Amino acid sequence: MGEAGRVARAVDGALDRSVVLGYTRIGSAVRSRWWPADPPPMALAGKRVLVTGATSGLGAAAVHGMLDLGAQVFLLGRDPVKVDRAVGEAIAASPGAKVVGEICDVGDLDDVRRWAADFAGRVPALHGLLHNAGTMTGDERTTTAQGHELTLAVHVLGPHLITGLLLDQLRAAGREEGASVVWMSSGGMYSARLHADDADDIEYRNGSYDGVQAYARTKRMQVVIAQEWASALTQDGIRVESMHPGWAGTPGVRQNLPKFERLTRPLLRSAEDGADTAVWLIATRPESGPGHFWHDRALRPVTWSGRGGPEAQAVERFLDYVVTATGMPLPS
Ligand SMILES: NC(=O)c1ccc[n+]([C@@H]2O[C@H](COP(=O)([O-])OP(=O)(O)OC[C@H]3O[C@@H](n4cnc5c(N)ncnc54)[C@H](OP(=O)(O)O)[C@@H]3O)[C@@H](O)[C@H]2O)c1
Repeated sequence: MGEAGRVARAVDGALDRSVVLGYTRIGSAVRSRWWPADPPPMALAGKRVLVTGATSGLGAAAVHGMLDLGAQVFLLGRDPVKVDRAVGEAIAASPGAKVVGEICDVGDLDDVRRWAADFAGRVPALHGLLHNAGTMTGDERTTTAQGHELTLAVHVLGPHLITGLLLDQLRAAGREEGASVVWMSSGGMYSARLHADDADDIEYRNGSYDGVQAYARTKRMQVVIAQEWASALTQDGIRVESMHPGWAGTPGVRQNLPKFERLTRPLLRSAEDGADTAVWLIATRPESGPGHFWHDRALRPVTWSGRGGPEAQAVERFLDYVVTATGMPLPS
């Protein structure tokens, strides 16, 4: 690495450690001076990509980014009216765009099975899958139709089941041209470690419920489970990564974190900026490494130095729980 590379790396690390500078638009503005090149024009021509939580914020921005690169995009949301509107907006922005609306509640495992069976019958090969759907609860534990805690279902159980149910489609693309799965996590995952006490109460049944903690912990779980899928699928030509988008001004942030949004508004990233690394990962399929966790087009640590990471036994119990709850094993 030359002098310029060493300086860039030092500045990048300092941005990360400062959190505020790295996560806001300042981080991407500085890093874009040296980060890897944009995908070539029409990098996704002839490829099919599915984006969940695509009716708003980062998901909608990712849809636009993928369409601009020539992909056929399956735009998934749970509300038919919002899906129709998002499809209309995508076509208005990119006339002639190949975009198909998909209706599925990612947190409802029966709905995921119904929708995936139909999708698999229509779509033979899938090159990109962005698990972006996300939600934040208040301080009241909310459950899904199957009785799972909501953030666990939307961030972990549903995406895990979708990945497994669409594995034949991903493998079909992986064998030919390569496929890519990206989990949209959050920098908030650094505050959650996945230790034995977490594994004792994966559904948050004991003690008082804290929506912010549940969000952070399920975002950590996304990083952990993406690593498992990554190891299981390398030989199939399928890359699996997780990432965090920094802080972007989206409807979700405005609604769930109004005070934070007001305080940080001038510094928040645009939705396009927040979605940039997801689009880049799917369009370029870069070499990855341990952790498989990205931000601003670079691999990032999965724990901060000095802070413990997930405990091996807790990870094992968490993965067993996910497999039992969904009935979907991890491929060996
Ligand atoms: N914005 C940020 O700064 C930030 C930071 C860190 C991580 N993230 C992550 O980035 C992702 C996108 O966040 P955002 O800020 O763009 O939020 P957003 O504007 O609220 O968008 C979230 C999307 O997920 C959809 N969704 C929620 N629950 C769903 C379900 N059960 N089934 C299907 N779709 C569902 C929403 O649809 P409805 O409109 O129907 O609810 C919406 O389209 C999330 O995973 C979030 O955790 C965002």
